Amino acid sequence: MKTNIALIGFMGTGKTSVARLLAERTGKRLVELDELAALSAGKPISRIFKEDGEAAFRKLEAEITAKAALGKDQVIACGGGVVLNPANIAILKKDSVIVYLKASPEEILARVSADGAVRPLLQTEDPAQTIKQMMESRKPLYEQAADIVIDTGGLKLEAVARKVIDGLRDYERKDK
Ligand code: S3P
Repeated sequence: MKTNIALIGFMGTGKTSVARLLAERTGKRLVELDELAALSAGKPISRIFKEDGEAAFRKLEAEITAKAALGKDQVIACGGGVVLNPANIAILKKDSVIVYLKASPEEILARVSADGAVRPLLQTEDPAQTIKQMMESRKPLYEQAADIVIDTGGLKLEAVARKVIDGLRDYERKDK
């Protein structure tokens, strides 16, 4: 049986908050890949993008993902773009059940506007349109990578965490 839970999904789907709840419930260790990338670079993600560019961030993200994927008994909150590099997913799959948190572009826009975090890829003239386009191109990647898909529409974080735990139980039953 796999010992890690990895949460994937678009920016603003609640990956970090749900991962925190899941870590509390399961006793697994919370690992936040964006936070590890910022720690390793010694600056926030927004500055990595601005000063070093997206390619440098993706390289760092791949290194951090590979290292984290080797750990055990963790809830891993991934950055929204982790699926862009198939190597990230391949290494995560070794010991992680991959859970895709799905939300509509409208809900994502509302959440990213409300949470105050600076998201470099959404600093555009029309973030609503940017979200729609990025979601369109990433949707197949999230779906392909996922072992479990959770529709977070209209749900509070607590309810999403509960759905993930139920989903994991069903997944493990099928896996036996
Ligand atoms: C990104 C998502 C961000 C962060 C970076 C790039 C993306 O993480 O890794 O800004 O490409 O979707 P969150 O999904 O945690 O906001």
